[in-house]
Amino acid sequence: VVHFSVWIIFILTLTARLTVSPSSSQIFEGDFVSLSCEEDDSSAGWTLRRNTSKQQRTQCGDGWGKPAGSTNSSCNISYIDRWDSGVYWCESREGPISNMVNLTVTGGSVILQSPVLPVMEGDDVTLLCKTKTTPSNLPAAFYKDGSLIRKQPTGHMTIQHVSRSDEGLYKCDISGHGESPSSWITVTGEHTTTPPPTSTPPPPSTPNPASTPDPAAVRT
Ligand SMILES: *[C@@H]1O[C@H](CO)[C@@H](O)[C@H](O)[C@H]1NC(C)=O
Ligand SMILES: *[C@@H]1O[C@H](CO)[C@@H](O)[C@H](O)[C@H]1NC(C)=O
Ligand SMILES: *[C@@H]1O[C@H](CO)[C@@H](O)[C@H](O)[C@H]1NC(C)=O
Ligand SMILES: *[C@@H]1O[C@H](CO)[C@@H](O)[C@H](O)[C@H]1NC(C)=O
Repeated sequence: VVHFSVWIIFILTLTARLTVSPSSSQIFEGDFVSLSCEEDDSSAGWTLRRNTSKQQRTQCGDGWGKPAGSTNSSCNISYIDRWDSGVYWCESREGPISNMVNLTVTGGSVILQSPVLPVMEGDDVTLLCKTKTTPSNLPAAFYKDGSLIRKQPTGHMTIQHVSRSDEGLYKCDISGHGESPSSWITVTGEHTTTPPPTSTPPPPSTPNPASTPDPAAVRT
């Protein structure tokens, strides 16, 4: 339900969305990751690009990743490296870009599994603290903006009814294993805590995107 609402917003305003599988903004070095531009207009010709600390705007297949399928709109990275950390997005020939996703690849032994997409105000968010070598469910401590917020015996923490004040830089720590990198969690206020009971999406904040180009979707 959470993700359905998020997708609706992206389809209305951006026309393509970037999904990441497994869905986590932090990844262990050596893991397999699959990225995909999902579109509502297959003629748009979306291409996956990224910026890392070494290179900007490189597309999948151009020194990183392996195009998966017949188009350039999905990409597999079979052994992700810490230099693959960066911001990823889909771009169409016409210029518009999708949502952006920050990926952090660590050579360490702990990750914080946090949402890759902005979280809607009012939704619940679950963060999972994982080690590379042990099955999950080890006790973990969670930090926001450098301060301890909770210790959880099961390694996961749910923030209920997130609000703007929950936005920040999160990390976690598992005793004897180490600390995760930090990830930014963004909270957006696109809908209220009581969405309509029907499947009607919330009204877009911009004029009908089908008839007018949406300036928010165009990056210069
Ligand atoms: C990627 O890098 C280019 C060149 O430095 C910059 O203009 C662009 O804003 C960056 N894009 C993102 C999404 O960070
Ligand atoms: C990419 O990964 C998917 C699984 O996520 C797999 O089904 C597909 O065959 C892979 N494609 C290539 C070209 O490696
Ligand atoms: C994928 O990108 C390459 C390099 O830019 C290009 O030559 C090729 O035509 C693209 N393929 C598709 C299906 O867009
Ligand atoms: C990516 O990470 C940087 C640095 O933490 C942050 O400023 C930026 O807002 C993030 N972008 C997204 C799309 O999450």
